[in-house]
This record gives sequence, C-alpha cells and structure tokens, in this order.
Amino acid sequence: MKVLLVGSGGREHAMAMAITRSAEEPTLYAAMRYKNPGIARLCDDYHLVNETDVEKVASFARSADLVVIGPEAPLAAGIVDVLNDHGVRAFGPTQQAALIESNKGWTRTFMSQHGIKGCPKYALFDDLSEADRFIKENIDDGKLVIKPFGLTGGKGVVIVSSYSEGRDYLKKLNGPVVIEECLSGEEFTLQAFVDGNVVAPAPAVQDHKRAFEGDLGPNTGGMGSYTDKSYVLPFMEEADYSAAVAIMQDTVDALKSSGVEYKGILYGQFMLTKAGIMVVEYNCRFGDPEAMNVLPLLRSDFIELAESAIDGTLKSTEYELSATVCKYVVPAGYPANPKPTEITINKDEIDATLFYASVDERDGAIFTTSSRALAVLGVAETIDHAEQQAERALQFIKGDVFARHDIGKSELVQSRIEHMKRIRGGGYELTPEGPT
Ligand code: AMP
Ligand code: GLY
Repeated sequence: MKVLLVGSGGREHAMAMAITRSAEEPTLYAAMRYKNPGIARLCDDYHLVNETDVEKVASFARSADLVVIGPEAPLAAGIVDVLNDHGVRAFGPTQQAALIESNKGWTRTFMSQHGIKGCPKYALFDDLSEADRFIKENIDDGKLVIKPFGLTGGKGVVIVSSYSEGRDYLKKLNGPVVIEECLSGEEFTLQAFVDGNVVAPAPAVQDHKRAFEGDLGPNTGGMGSYTDKSYVLPFMEEADYSAAVAIMQDTVDALKSSGVEYKGILYGQFMLTKAGIMVVEYNCRFGDPEAMNVLPLLRSDFIELAESAIDGTLKSTEYELSATVCKYVVPAGYPANPKPTEITINKDEIDATLFYASVDERDGAIFTTSSRALAVLGVAETIDHAEQQAERALQFIKGDVFARHDIGKSELVQSRIEHMKRIRGGGYELTPEGPT
C-alpha cells in the first residue's frame, strides 16, 4: 500500500511514525515544503513542493492508495476535493468542511445558527471602520478579542484592553474580523477522528502558546504540551471532557444536517470558564504540538482509522493511557527575531522521542530556521516522570536555542489546578451535557 503524507512539521513527523507503524506495512512518500529529516528517513521518497499548490501535490499522488494531509493550509486550499476529483482517496476534510478553521466568521455564525453550546458573544465586521466604532463603544465592558477570519498560523488573535490598542491592531489588517468577548479560564485541546457521523476523541491535551516561561511573551504556534495518564487533565473533571465531546458531536451532526460531511481530524480548542465550557476555536487537523502527545499513544491502526473515516465506518479509537510531556526547541529570538543557528543533537544519549520540525540538514549538520526546530516527548506513568524524561533529552541538544522548561513541571500543573478551583469556586455545575 502506498501512502502519501503532505506536510513537513513536527506534527507530520508524528503522523509519519503512526502511519509506518501500521499493520498494512505501507510504503510512505512525502510532499513537503522543506525537507524534514525525520520524515525523510521514514519515506521511500519525497517531493519538495509548496503544500498549497494542490494541483502539483495531486500530480505526485496519482499512484497513491491513500493521501494523508497534515496542515490546514492545503486543506483550506481544497486539496481533498482536488484529490477526490482525480480519484485518489484522501484523509482530511473537504474545502467546505475545512471552513471550520479557515473562516472564523463562518464558524461563529454556524455555531450560533445551529445552537451549538459554548459559542462566546461575538460580532462580525467586513468594514473595519465599523469594527473600530464597535471597539470604541464596547471596550469599557472589559477586554475584547480581535480575530481575522482567515488562517494566521496561530498568531492572528489579539486581546485588547483599550480602544487605542484595538484601533492600532485594526490598522494592520485588511480583511474581515470577528470581535468577541474575552474568555478567561483554562484551555484544553480535544482531537478526534471523525467519519461524518462518529466522533472518536483522543485524550485531552494542554498546549502552551506563549513563548516564555510563566506564560509570558508573544503567542507562538505552541511551545509544548502535556497529557495525563487518563483522558482528562489534572485540572479537568470527567464531565468537562464529556461536555467537550458532546459539543464536537453536535457540531459534526449540525454540519451533516446542513449537507457537509466532516471527515478527518477535528480539533476543538476549549476553555473552562466561570460560565462553563466555551469553544475558543475549531481546527480542521491535528494540533502541533498536540499530535506529538497523542499519536505515540494511539493503539489503533492509523491507516485503518483513516480509511474508515473516509468510508464512514469509523467505530472507536484506542489509546495507551500514559502521561506525556512534549517540549519544543526553538531558535533564540523566536518568534519575533529568530536567529538560525547550527544545533548538535547527541541522539545516542536521548531516551525520549525526538520529532524534527523546521530544520535544514546540510552535509550531515542540522540548522534551525525561523520556526520551531524540533521537539522531545517524554512518556511515563506520571506527568512528573514524563517531564523529567523530556528535560533529560533537552540536555543533549546544544545550540543557540531555547525551550520552556516549565511545561509539565508540577508547579505549573498545580497552578492550573488552583486556577480552576478558584473559577469553580465561583460555582457552576457541570452535567455530561454541558454547564447548567
Ligand atoms: P486561535 O487562533 O483562535 O486558537 O486563538 C489563539 C489563542 O488566543 C487561543 O488559544 C486563546 O488562548 C486565545 N483566544 C482566542 N479566542 C479567545 C477568546 N475569545 N478569549 C480569550 N482568549 C482567546
Ligand atoms: N497548537 C495549536 C495548533 O496546532 O493550532
């Protein structure tokens, strides 16, 4: 069986590992924007290509039995529709279904029209001078969140607490925006295989978006993430998890009733707030780094799951229950002024899983680029032990790079638990159907 994987990040390295573990014993090919050495090693061959050039990617896919798409950009560009037109089986949502990530205005409208729980108060603006006026009139009630409709690589959302901040951000934009209430609480990610009907969710993950320790600094694509030895995180209750799954199921059902079969990975970003569970956003693919936490735990066969999602015969997924801690290594100056640099990796000493992301390999040497370079993953009985394993691995990666050492440490995990206790102390009751 021939499988073509599209994408070149840490997430796709984790996907490549899951694909090559399959009992189908596939031959793997990759279509990548740059050469990810981890993926290249797992492949029989690879093509360097702009991943959003969907016709070009499709030309490599003619003899593939299955194409698996990692990133959002080719999905938003309609790669699945193009592949299907060429008679190629592809795992991922169609362009219409991918609107759930590629158009935040569409998604908020869809959620409110279909009565999906957890939709914050929002307003949509095509005309940015009206958005400006809205901020002026409403900012006194507290912070507001400004989101461009389209894809921004996780860096487009800005929280403003004054009119001038809002005005200045709007000046940098030129397309439509969502302005929504600022939610406060603890966030978690839920990723699920979906076949148009069935939603088969993975363990919950918590990502760390801010660049620096203590959740300081600018937003990034994600600096690291953890899971517990369970489907829920230490600050969550079982009912929070069930409520999130129920919201995702309602969303998939509502899509179906409006004529859109959602097939692929659905990623829900949720926030546990005083008012209950809220949907921060949906993504149409695995998270990066969150894929690196859950895919190594996946006991079900990835290819079987992908095929059953395409065929509408998905049943359930099985994950090993272990704690995981993933930490990204990024170049000094990331994300504002990253300085590409050579790094050395003493692989023989590393007993954690190593995922390559954005690096250049030249003459056997590894150089960082301007993005996240590589990630280490510890897997253990407890978050503490997984964190220690990840930290030990970081010692064997040298260069002008940094990582967030606080991710997965007990002080940070404990502070999340305390934070949720204070929020719940304000008193809301959860039922499996959602907050009351
Ligand atoms: P997104 O690109 O929508 O995932 O947003 C990136 C990050 O911005 C989220 O993970 C949240 O931390 C934050 N964010 C997005 N929407 C809101 C909101 N309504 N209230 C507070 N924070 C938000
Ligand atoms: N880690 C956030 C994302 O993949 O969107």
